[in-house]
Amino acid sequence: MRVIIRPSATAACVTAARIIANQVIGQPDSVLGLATGGTPLGSYQELIRLHRAGQLDFSRVTTFNLDEYVGLGPQHAQSYHRFMFSNLFDAINIDPQRVHLPDGLASDLTEACADYERQIVEAGGIDLQLLGIGTDGHIAFNEPGSSLASRTRLKTLARQTVDDNARFFDHSDDVPRLAVTMGVGTILESRQCLLLATGENKAAAIRGAIEGPLTSQNTATALQLHPAAIVVLDQEAASWLSRIDAYRHAESYMPDPDQLESAD
Ligand code: F6R
Repeated sequence: MRVIIRPSATAACVTAARIIANQVIGQPDSVLGLATGGTPLGSYQELIRLHRAGQLDFSRVTTFNLDEYVGLGPQHAQSYHRFMFSNLFDAINIDPQRVHLPDGLASDLTEACADYERQIVEAGGIDLQLLGIGTDGHIAFNEPGSSLASRTRLKTLARQTVDDNARFFDHSDDVPRLAVTMGVGTILESRQCLLLATGENKAAAIRGAIEGPLTSQNTATALQLHPAAIVVLDQEAASWLSRIDAYRHAESYMPDPDQLESAD
């Protein structure tokens, strides 16, 4: 696991965006896995900036999002579908036909989940999966207790997640209690995983994810099993780590992740 610690949330978001940008520059038909929530917004702004500066072409990119609330249609203001178009897709040259999110309105959710898995396989698998982390250690909506072999399925949100996400809704009662989410097993099949976390409220979950034992009680710990996982943190999210010096030392020998590759 490569751990990159940046001085600020803004810098961490830029680093994550540059890692995604380099994936797209090196492989213009990349399949990206994307996340919603507050954390990646700064990364999406940087990707939009690079696109507007003529440095990033998304025309051949395919995307799969991690999750969607059950019961919220694509036009609902709080749906993850709407989030992705408002915060990224409408501002870049991605082909909407290549964009995929789980269908929170499917009449047969079990079949829709199996179909989502099939679509990922048909696209050739996910090259780079962006992830956030919940305060309870969840990745996607794989709440504590989720199988580390789980696939795309229906999940009940943990009470802590409902409380955390209430800030996006008028009232906490409006937060859907169910979501369709990629499973931990689905995520681990991505060729590369990129976990981005910022803020002191993520410090405990991050410590568990990086330095704790593998456990379904913090599903981000499953990334310890991934052969190509990168974690990008700001200082606050990194503040509970006990081996910060070791991560900084290792990183001093690595290429600068903020450096954009040349398209040639
Ligand atoms: C979102 C997702 C979630 C979030 C996590 C952190 O698609 O899968 O796991 O990444 O809940 O959310 P924020 O960034 O809002 O703290």
